[in-house]
Formats: sequence, C-alpha cells, structure tokens
Amino acid sequence: MVRTALGTVTSSRRWTTVVTLVTAGAIAASAVIAQRSSAAEPRGRDRSFSNPAGVHRTLTTTGGMDEGNPFFQELGTNGRSCFTCHRPAQAWTITPAELGERFDATAGLDPVFRVNDGSNCVAADVSSIGKRREAFSLLLTRGVIRIDLQVPAHAEFDVIDVDDPYDCGAPLAIVSMYRRPLPTTNLGFISAVMWDGRQTAPGQDIRSDLITQARDAVVEHAEGMAPTNTQLRAIVDFELGLFTAQERDRAAGNLAGQAAKSGAEALARQPFCIGINDPLGMLPAIPGACLGRAASFDAKVFTLFAGWAGEASPERQAIARGEAIFNTRQFAIDHVPGLNGGPADPVTGSLATGSCTICHDTPNAGNHSVAMALDIGIAASTRRTPDMPLYTLRHRRTSEVVQTTDPGRAMVTGRWSDIGKFKGPVLRSLAARAPYFHDGSGASLADVIQFYDTRFGIKFTEQEKADLLAFLRAL
Ligand code: HEC
Ligand code: HEC
Repeated sequence: MVRTALGTVTSSRRWTTVVTLVTAGAIAASAVIAQRSSAAEPRGRDRSFSNPAGVHRTLTTTGGMDEGNPFFQELGTNGRSCFTCHRPAQAWTITPAELGERFDATAGLDPVFRVNDGSNCVAADVSSIGKRREAFSLLLTRGVIRIDLQVPAHAEFDVIDVDDPYDCGAPLAIVSMYRRPLPTTNLGFISAVMWDGRQTAPGQDIRSDLITQARDAVVEHAEGMAPTNTQLRAIVDFELGLFTAQERDRAAGNLAGQAAKSGAEALARQPFCIGINDPLGMLPAIPGACLGRAASFDAKVFTLFAGWAGEASPERQAIARGEAIFNTRQFAIDHVPGLNGGPADPVTGSLATGSCTICHDTPNAGNHSVAMALDIGIAASTRRTPDMPLYTLRHRRTSEVVQTTDPGRAMVTGRWSDIGKFKGPVLRSLAARAPYFHDGSGASLADVIQFYDTRFGIKFTEQEKADLLAFLRAL
C-alpha cells in the first residue's frame, strides 16, 4: 500500500480492495474517493479500480454489489465461481497480469488453474509448479480459456488435421479453441451470447439465453450440478444490472464531467434495443428487438467527447478527435465474410465509405447491435503464431480446404461459410482488460489499431493512431 496526498492507494487486484487511483492528473478538479471494502463494510452501489490508463468504475442498477450473490459462490465441485474468471478489477474478465499474480501467490493452485478448461490440454501434467507453468501457458500469457466443442454431426466439413504445439491428442472431431472470457458487464447491450453466439437460441430473449449460459457455466467451468432456477435468476439479474466504463483518464482527468458525457452512470442510462442503429436496417422479429421501423443509421455511434473538441487540454482534444475518427474516418471494408465476403452475404462488393461504426454500431456501447457473426480475419492461418493450434478443415462435398486457429461460428452451425466468424463485442472499459480479440492476440489497443490499419489498408497517420488510441483508452 502506498500513501499519497490523495489517500490510500493499493495496487491489489482483489475484489475486496477498491481503489480509485489518480496520478499526476492534469485536471485536479473532481473529488477523489478512495474506498475500501471488507466484509465489515457496507456494500456499495459501485466499485472503482485503477488500471493502466486511469480508473474504471462499475455501477449496479440492481441495488448493491452483493457479494452474497451466487455469482460469487462456489456452485460446483472445483472451487470455482463466476468471479474466478469474471473480475470487476479487470472489467469483469481476467488478464494475464492478474493471472500471473494469482499463479505466484498460490503456486499455480488457484481454482482458475484447473485442467478441465484452464490448461492447454485436458491431460496436462500439473504435478509440479514448473509443470503447471507450462500446462497453463496460454492462460498465463493470453488470458484464454480452452473451449472444447465437437464438430456438429451435420456439419458441411470435417477436421482432417491439427498442428497442435501441445500434442493434446484429442480426436479430430473435438476442436480445442482458446478464448478470452467476455466481460459479464454491460450485457444489457449485447445481441448475441458468447463469441460464436452459441448460447443465443433462435426466438429467445437475451435474458433467457443468459440463464442457460449461467447454468452451462456452472456445469462446465465449475464442474457442478445445474444450480436452482432461483440461483440462476439471481446471477443473471446481477449481471444485467452491471455497467462498467472508464471513469478517469490519467492524462485527461474526469471522463464523466460536464463537457464529456462518459462514465458508468451515463452508460447505465443509454437506451438499447436489438437493431437500434444497424447500417443494414435489419430489424429481426425477435424479443428485445426495436419495435417498428429502425431509425436510419447514424455513423456517429459515440457521442461522449464531442464537447471536448474546444477544450484547452491537449489530452482532451486528442480524445475528442479520436472519437470523430472512430465514427467517421472512412476506409474500404472488403471481403468480410458475413457482411460482403460471399454470395450469400447481405452486401455485394466493397463498402467504400465505411468506418469503424459499420460494425461497431450500438450507440455509446460499440458492439454490433444485431447478431451477425463476421470474419475479420483474427483466426486466419496467416496470423497463426506457434503457441496456437492450427486446424485443417475440409468441405465434405467440394473437398475445399481451409486452415484456421478457431473455426468460430462454424462449430455451432456446421456451416462452411461460418468459419472464422465471431461477434462484434462491446467496446467499453477496454483499458482495464487487455489483451483483445477472441484469442487475446491483440496485446494492446495500439496492436488492435495496427491490425485494422493493415487488414483494411487504412493508412492512418501517426497522429490519427495516437488520437484513436486516446479515445479507445477512455471508453
Ligand atoms: C474458467 C473461467 C470461467 C468461469 C469460471 C466462468 N466463465 Fe463466463 N466465460 C468464460 C469464457 C472463456 C467465455 C467466452 C467463451 C466463448 O465465447 O466461447 C465466457 C463468457 C461468458 C458470458 C458471455 C458474455 C457475452 O458477451 O456473450 C457470460 C454472460 C458469462 N461468461 C457468465 C458467466 C457466469 C454467470 C459464470 C458463473 C456461473 C461464469 N461465466 C463462469 C470463462 C469463464
Ligand atoms: C467489418 C466489421 C468491423 C469493423 C469495420 C471494425 N471492427 Fe472491431 N471488431 C469486429 C469484430 C467481429 C470483432 C471481434 C473479432 C474477434 O475477436 O475475432 C472486433 C473486435 C474489436 C476490438 C476488440 C474488443 C475486445 O473486447 O477484445 C476492438 C478494440 C475493436 N474491434 C476496435 C475497432 C476499431 C478501432 C475499428 C476501426 C478502425 C474497428 N474495430 C472496425 C468487427 C469490426
């Protein structure tokens, strides 16, 4: 613990320690709250934690951050709870930095380090601390959990080969995919559950999907029996009441002030319905979708920092410029399967004048407002690094062959055209939860920007990259 003029600051990432950390803030205006929480203290409505870019905060609209909620209870048999992989200090996911601390503190015996899905392989040798470091290397370096799925029986393809750096020896009909836990916050904005949408049942509302998801999470991650309906409802109500956003930026100060309209409280007031701002005007006839005609698409998806354009602070100006770049900087969006990459896709040919918001279209949340899995190339064989397995898939009829590190949505639908497709996730509280993308391959937000610059040939200037980075960090 460090004492500063601003109060007691700890760098602990544990749930029980709540920190609002402010460093060398250019703007010293807003009040600084250094909260602590222990079993004896009253449970608050919100929690703030320091992160590399400043402070993020979670607000709950369902009365209190109740640590007695089954979300925090061990409902299974292996010592895990939802909190094992979804932590408020990491914006409700986990990060390699914090996992490293947990590994060191417990000699790799914390319940997150379980072979059922934490290790590279199910049969990993975990008999010594050195072996455990090897066995959980992907979890420790990328913060990914192993998801094993069976190739659907009716699939249009077979998996005919795997180049597996871990020699896991699983049958080819089972594919191991390594994925980042999605945050269990800001779920009121999502249009599909899980990276590949596998917990989204046709015609069912998201809340019911989340109930099934929670049941499966207890059975699979925690190796338990299905919890009671009361427990499941309590978990999902808790999750749906959480809103998390960056609240302070180290350089630009308070993000939730008068001119800037960001922060968790503003986010909790942000309206949403499925299809709210879809560029293709899709209004699926499903529960939770917007009623009537969708309003026309507004590319200005983020409207948090426009008020800072005329501020004296250069850091604030940069964030305002970054927001405008995200909304309006145009580039050609081409060959994206799911959007305009094949004959069955809704758009033919290149979208010459798209911006980031063609896909990240939900106002002030940034996820895709409709369930529409897309392949932007994250799992492509060309991006494969030696620490990831490479699967070879062959079309059962045409014998066409494709290699990928993760077949994505194709493992749910069995469709060849769904290979490599994932959902467009919520883009809030990013600074607290590197690395990015489903496989954690974007080590930093700068890497994410570089990925897009290369993938779409955007040719961002250095200034544009810096501004966009300042903006993403402030979300
Ligand atoms: C061992 C780690 C682990 C545990 C424990 C765990 N999760 Fe997850 N969670 C994940 C991973 C990994 C994903 C993403 C998997 C994917 O998309 O394929 C995920 C995804 C989710 C999502 C989807 C969010 C979205 O945007 O689609 C929800 C909701 C969720 N988890 C809730 C829970 C709940 C509730 C519990 C406790 C009952 C729980 N999780 C326990 C690792 C975990
Ligand atoms: C063609 C659609 C599309 C466009 C255009 C697009 N994205 Fe994405 N974005 C996605 C999808 C899909 C994912 C998830 C991909 C994955 O993990 O496989 C994603 C993921 C991300 C993530 C990682 C979030 C996380 O939680 O890991 C960030 C950050 C991001 N995008 C920022 C941007 C920025 C900045 C731009 C503009 C330069 C942009 N995106 C343009 C579809 C798009």
